[in-house]
Amino acid sequence: MRFGAVLRLLTAALLLTFAAAVAVPALAQQQVNPTAQAVQERQFLDALKNNPQAELQGRISIPDQRAATLERPAGRDWRAFHQGTMLRITAIGILGMLAVLVAFYLIRGRVRTEAGPAGRTLTRFNGFERFMHWLTAACFILLALSGLNVTVGKHLLLPLVGPQAFTNLSVAAKWAHNFLAWPFMLGIALMFVVWIKDNIPNMVDIRWFLAGGGIVGKGHPPAQRFNGGQKALFWVVVLGGAALSVSGFFLIFPALAGGVLNLQFWNVVHGIVSVLIIAAILGHIYIGTIGMEGAFDAMGSGEVDLNWAKAHHSLWVEEEMRKGQVAPGGPRLQPAE
Ligand code: HEM
Repeated sequence: MRFGAVLRLLTAALLLTFAAAVAVPALAQQQVNPTAQAVQERQFLDALKNNPQAELQGRISIPDQRAATLERPAGRDWRAFHQGTMLRITAIGILGMLAVLVAFYLIRGRVRTEAGPAGRTLTRFNGFERFMHWLTAACFILLALSGLNVTVGKHLLLPLVGPQAFTNLSVAAKWAHNFLAWPFMLGIALMFVVWIKDNIPNMVDIRWFLAGGGIVGKGHPPAQRFNGGQKALFWVVVLGGAALSVSGFFLIFPALAGGVLNLQFWNVVHGIVSVLIIAAILGHIYIGTIGMEGAFDAMGSGEVDLNWAKAHHSLWVEEEMRKGQVAPGGPRLQPAE
């Protein structure tokens, strides 16, 4: 009898174990049924899709209510933009500009001062102007490189230097980016205040553009202290710099942006505007160095050759002569062409 009871107990235990073994996977399968869940998630996303503010909230017991967000379709759109569209915009903007510059150099060559050096110079930029230019330029180059690391670093740099070096470099780049933003903003503000008087567009600039700016075609159309192309760059730098400053400010202080959707907006603005400015500045660096003979002196020593100035900024030279900035007794003014 005793043996029979033990046997019944053992059989029951075995049956129970077997039932549990069969039941647990069945239960688990029900909980993580992938098809059913994906369908439900898609339905949720479809329902939320037409309202960019929409989000699916769960219930939480911690004070930070933002942690309750389960789904926000706008977040997926932003990620797709950041990891796809933004990469393409960056590649097209920067590589496209480099290709244009190489083609331009091969076709047009270096813009020379046809009259040769006059041997007399005049001051184009004073010490303070050069300081603010190089302050802005140095910050901009480091900001551009450290910012580009966020967009393309893991595709270009990571495979080259490996994960450890990439991590160290990216941490340093992030600090550099956050701190150099401030002197950059100062530089842009100084440029705006000091140079705005010479950068108001007028008819001279329209005629300068219509004549090809002395870059396309022959001869140099008359120009004031800054020609039409330089004025365009000035406004790209000032307005683009302002857009980068405002958007960057919210990226540094996200709590002030007024919600994650605003933050996504500023992030998109920051990315697109920086590519536009970087492309414009690549063109500017080209023309300020190898693209045009004599141009670098203007920002290097601050002094330019009189014949260079007459060729590229004839109206400015006339004005400087009237003001007595160019000593009398020098070569007579020739027509700019
Ligand atoms: C290596 C980098 C750079 C070089 C070699 C360079 C060179 C020059 C040169 C030679 C000039 C004087 C042009 C003239 O006399 O007519 C100039 C002017 C100027 N630069 Fe730069 N620059 C650089 C970077 C930058 C950056 C990063 C910015 C702004 C973010 C900038 C903004 C300006 C502006 C607004 C002017 C006055 C308008 C103009 O000449 O286009 N530069 N630069």
